[in-house]
Amino acid sequence: MPEIDTGRWAIIVHGGAKDIPPQLEARHRQGCLMAVEAGVRILTEGGSAIQAAQAAVRVLEDDPVFNAGHGSVKNADGDIECDAAIMDGSDLSVGAVAAVRRIRNPIDAAVALLSDKTVLLVAEGAERFARARGVALCEPKDLQAVPQACDAGCDTVGCVVIDGYGDVAAATSTGGLDGARPGRVGDSPLPGCGLSAENGVGGVSLSGEGEAIIRTGMAHCLMRALEFNTPGDAAKAAFERLARVGAEAGAIVIDAEGRIDWMHNSRDFAVGYARHDMAARAFTRREQDPGETA
Ligand code: GLY
Repeated sequence: MPEIDTGRWAIIVHGGAKDIPPQLEARHRQGCLMAVEAGVRILTEGGSAIQAAQAAVRVLEDDPVFNAGHGSVKNADGDIECDAAIMDGSDLSVGAVAAVRRIRNPIDAAVALLSDKTVLLVAEGAERFARARGVALCEPKDLQAVPQACDAGCDTVGCVVIDGYGDVAAATSTGGLDGARPGRVGDSPLPGCGLSAENGVGGVSLSGEGEAIIRTGMAHCLMRALEFNTPGDAAKAAFERLARVGAEAGAIVIDAEGRIDWMHNSRDFAVGYARHDMAARAFTRREQDPGETA
């Protein structure tokens, strides 16, 4: 059995790259803190990075202020279609679902798929799989928040964790883009695009304009830069590539040493993080954050 060092871990979550109205800033910080705390509880009890990331994303999915799970934005037909994914850096397994309408917490279906050879299931096929695995289903209307607490155009949630074993996990969940074409799928459920995790390197979870993130393979680009750079410099390299197609995005990163950083070119990007040696904290813009040593 590997020795468990629950004293060394790190977790970061985000609530989407977007414009946050001033009256909703505190709610975004609070939501991120609650998600971080859900993950921290698991990590300090010796739980895995996957378990912590799932717990944190569930909290964000359940909070209608974020565009994921309950409170997701509607597509052009007025329907909610959710995407979610999780990647295990210990064996590079990925579970992902897309365009699901009846899964209360899409991240749960993604986690259930981790142990399966299939990487990505969509729509009814994903819902049938979720039902077969005991994942809670719901009626499509149950994903609607009344009134919708999230502004139009708001984006994905995500999480990156390194646990006491040195295992890394990255996760995403989203309701997609407001008013999108029905059936449209963005970057969030696609490994190498919206997320990536690899033990010995680190992990990343992204938010932003999915088509641009897919075209630039942004998570893959960031991970390759992370092999030789700090999280901040690796994020910078990925944003330089994104600039070739011009789009707004946000990135959260943890490297194999547990160093944390985040970056965005959107006006706002709600983020919360904590580490074994650092209390939980949350911000809505990178410029507010004095850095992980503060
Ligand atoms: N980043 C979420 C999406 O484009 O669907």
